[in-house]
Amino acid sequence: MTLRSTLSCIIVIFLAACNTSRITETKEQTFALIPYPTHLTEGKGNFIITPSTKIVVKSNLFLKEAEMLSALFEHSFGSPLMPTIDQTKRSINLILDESIKEEEGYTLEITKNEVTLSAKTPTGMFRAVQTIRQLLPATIEASNGQMVKSFSLPAVKIQDEPAYEWRGMHLDVSRHFFSIDYLKKMLDLMAFYKFNKFHLHLTDDQGWRIEIKKYPLLTEQGAWRTFNNQDSACMSLAKENPDFIIDPKHIIQKDGKTLYGGFYTQEQMKDVVAYAAARHIDIIPEIDMPGHMMAAIDAYNYLSCDGKSAFGKLFSIPICPCLPATYQFAEDVYTEIMDIFPSKYLHIGGDEVERSFWAKSDACKELMAREGLKNTAELQSYFIHKMEAFFHSKGRELIGWDEILDGGISKTALIMYWRTWVPKAPIEAAKNGNKVIMTPGEPLYFDAYPDKSSLSRVYHFNPIPKGLTPQEAKGIIGAQANIWTETIPSENRAEYMMMPRMTALAEVVWTGKKDYPSFLQRLYNQYPRLDILNIHYRFPDLEGILDNYAFTDKMVFKVEKPLPDLILRYTTDSSLPTIQSKVLDDPLTIDKTERIRLAAFKPDGRRGDLYDISFHKESYAEPAAVASSQAGLNANWYKGFFRTTLKMPAGNGTGAEIVSNLAVPKKAESANFGIKFRGYIDIPETGIYTFYLGSDDGSTLKIADRMVVDNDGLHSFKEKNGQVALKKGLHPIALNLIEGGGGYRLSIQYSINGSERKEIPAAWLKHE
Ligand code: ACM
Repeated sequence: MTLRSTLSCIIVIFLAACNTSRITETKEQTFALIPYPTHLTEGKGNFIITPSTKIVVKSNLFLKEAEMLSALFEHSFGSPLMPTIDQTKRSINLILDESIKEEEGYTLEITKNEVTLSAKTPTGMFRAVQTIRQLLPATIEASNGQMVKSFSLPAVKIQDEPAYEWRGMHLDVSRHFFSIDYLKKMLDLMAFYKFNKFHLHLTDDQGWRIEIKKYPLLTEQGAWRTFNNQDSACMSLAKENPDFIIDPKHIIQKDGKTLYGGFYTQEQMKDVVAYAAARHIDIIPEIDMPGHMMAAIDAYNYLSCDGKSAFGKLFSIPICPCLPATYQFAEDVYTEIMDIFPSKYLHIGGDEVERSFWAKSDACKELMAREGLKNTAELQSYFIHKMEAFFHSKGRELIGWDEILDGGISKTALIMYWRTWVPKAPIEAAKNGNKVIMTPGEPLYFDAYPDKSSLSRVYHFNPIPKGLTPQEAKGIIGAQANIWTETIPSENRAEYMMMPRMTALAEVVWTGKKDYPSFLQRLYNQYPRLDILNIHYRFPDLEGILDNYAFTDKMVFKVEKPLPDLILRYTTDSSLPTIQSKVLDDPLTIDKTERIRLAAFKPDGRRGDLYDISFHKESYAEPAAVASSQAGLNANWYKGFFRTTLKMPAGNGTGAEIVSNLAVPKKAESANFGIKFRGYIDIPETGIYTFYLGSDDGSTLKIADRMVVDNDGLHSFKEKNGQVALKKGLHPIALNLIEGGGGYRLSIQYSINGSERKEIPAAWLKHE
């Protein structure tokens, strides 16, 4: 045999083994379905689809879904499968089954002889088609230029229905703008994962993005801006990550100025709405008011109480709920919005309103006296009630962010809960009889930087808050992830932020039941398909890497690749790893203090997260000489806003007490604060200790006067870690935490010489 024929023989044997490998395939490989179906029973054998397989569709109801199913095969067979109404043998049958309870439910039965998809509605049938699509190999998604003779579907019986009626994704197209093509790409991805609501945040201070014919300045002027501080932040981040480059598609030159922006015409948006409807997704438009209206007020000054437009202490000047012209404007705008978006629900926003501006207005003083409104919260409520009555007069329902609960709310409004730091809001709303959609900032704000734990945090999120009876819990109609785009200036960045987190959410809201190890395996099996679909997902984390290593002599640094096609590259000169950098295949021996910058690359050059790793060669720290010590640490807290832990003042703070563990005492909590924990940690045996410090906002940990974890700055929950070499005995410990607003979290764990992570025992914490 020649070498080439030997090789081809090996390849043939390998392929043959792959073809029959169902015996050894795991359930997660054969049924790499996300979201996993409610009930799935494996069958025996396969159904083979060839170009002559017929799709039999007897009910006109499902013609579009039959077309979508048949079109899936076009790339591979050279033409779509033929839909027919005539019963044939060995066919794929789309059946109307009125006995299926759920509108979006379906059953799917695959045997050696036929495939049967049954549903009561086109929506249910569409969801079934997505399941078939996920059961087919990834290559179904695009042509690689080669024709395929057949596909095989594993025999199975599936009965499936969603756990929640609201399964949403949101995109803020105001802070940065996204093209029509991108909205469609996002809708495709949502459809693939059985989402059914797409919430578009169309307007905000930074840009008005939808044509309103009666108020042309909203887009002529309000859709464009000179670069703002958020753009500058992106430009700075773009130096190390091209995903932060401001999308040049949305930059224009006008009257000698460089402007950023864009808007959707009504025709374009109607086309997107139809595209979504074909995928059984409702688009929920949000025209955020009465706050977040600066782009509109800049164009039509009469909308604010005093004709001014500016940022206040926290938020921008809102529109004036005390002037008839405001209602005329709001109703006119929403009338055109209703014409574009047929959805039952319209989102009015209602968040983050700086109401103090109203208190100064004579018109408001007069209206409040006339209507008996006690405060500006009730005034906001008055505005929302009037808008809700207008929506109802047009047969639509109102959704608002959970601030619309302040000042009183009607039972018919839907609450979108986001303020993680007001945990009682969704409970009170559900008890009041309002429907609630859960979008808590933690973990469902996908603009928060993803880290090692974010996928798991989304997966383990339970939409039903504690404290509701089963009857009240029915008011929680689902959940949604929100993507605010202040620092998301490109489509690739948006995709990186949402994927793969949205797959975890898909399973939370559709399947309801949880099996994280199974989910991870199924997700792993989906990556090749996401590559073919050109989805810029965040690569799986490089496992087991610390931020900050300590060693006393030398150590071996080894990294496993989380996906087979990734190439690991690194630098030791602090430069950014590129596709020219050294490849890290074999373990590295480190024998001196140094910094390694490491990243995974796809063969196409796409780079994953940057790992900035420090290695410290150090001796074991000697214990401190402490004459006598007592249990607990000194905690000293400071009321106030600090950008970093270093900004906390020296000396005594607002309050102090001895605490038994590293947790913030209730007394210390306020909207903004900083806290310092000081004392000693009693190290039980000499070794290399790893500490894991998670916080929202920033935190730092020093032990034996060595910086072990630097997790400083204002940020959402983030965990960092670091090592330190310690001798048995007492060592000074200094832990700092700051909370800049929006709710804090603090977690700390340790491990020794690579052991499991554990909580720090209270008995280890001492003070003099
Ligand atoms: C929000 O994040 N302001 C709803």
